[in-house]
Amino acid sequence: MNRTYALIGAAVATALLTACTTSMPTSAELDKLTQDIMARSFRAEGQAKLDRLSPDEDNRLCAESDQTGVALDPKVAQAIEARNLATIQPPTDGKFLGDWKQGEAIAQSGAGKTWTDKEGSVNGGNCYNCHQISKEELSYGTLGPSLYNYGKIRGVVNPGSAESKPIVEYTWGKLQNARAYNACSNMPRFGHKGILTEAQIKHVMALLLDPASPINK
Ligand code: HEC
Repeated sequence: MNRTYALIGAAVATALLTACTTSMPTSAELDKLTQDIMARSFRAEGQAKLDRLSPDEDNRLCAESDQTGVALDPKVAQAIEARNLATIQPPTDGKFLGDWKQGEAIAQSGAGKTWTDKEGSVNGGNCYNCHQISKEELSYGTLGPSLYNYGKIRGVVNPGSAESKPIVEYTWGKLQNARAYNACSNMPRFGHKGILTEAQIKHVMALLLDPASPINK
């Protein structure tokens, strides 16, 4: 650890010295320096791998827009949505809904994707971190909209019916890959990024859409 900090310190000092004696470092040089510091500061462990240091094209475009404050060109946003939409597959057995009780447990669980999570251990959805869902759970984040009464508000009486098909398919798609409907969505791409399994997504679907789920009472 100390060696890492010493190396980072040396790298920063070199850059600053260079900046003082000659001209200011270019933005490309600073980017390279940041990359070097990041690469030395992190190591792959458990479920946290170093591929996170190299964002995919969609994350890169959205982060750039965030940092510069310049909104994405609508054509670029549409292209992001289109290529994410193309990743969405219907359920392999044609059934969209699982068991809402298991869905509630998945929504509650924040496990997964950190260096203390072992390879192959089961992840949670961490939904309450950003959404209100059941009324019983008083601790929730508000980055995303409230999902209380999600199915009821949308008039889902029978999730298998033709009338409910559009909302069932949209919800499935949103959970598979949130960028399909909102280019720079802050919601994790649960299916696309392999955070949740297909079975887990079905359970969460039931939590949101099953009329028997307490959130739709
Ligand atoms: C890091 C925060 C975050 C997490 C975790 C998260 N979401 Fe979201 N979610 C959002 C945001 C922000 C939106 C609204 C913007 C958007 O649509 O992308 C959203 C939108 C949604 C929508 C669409 C709502 C509508 O009315 O169209 C659904 C459904 C949803 N989330 C379900 C879930 C479920 C289920 C989970 C857990 C498996 C989850 N979210 C986890 C942030 C999150």
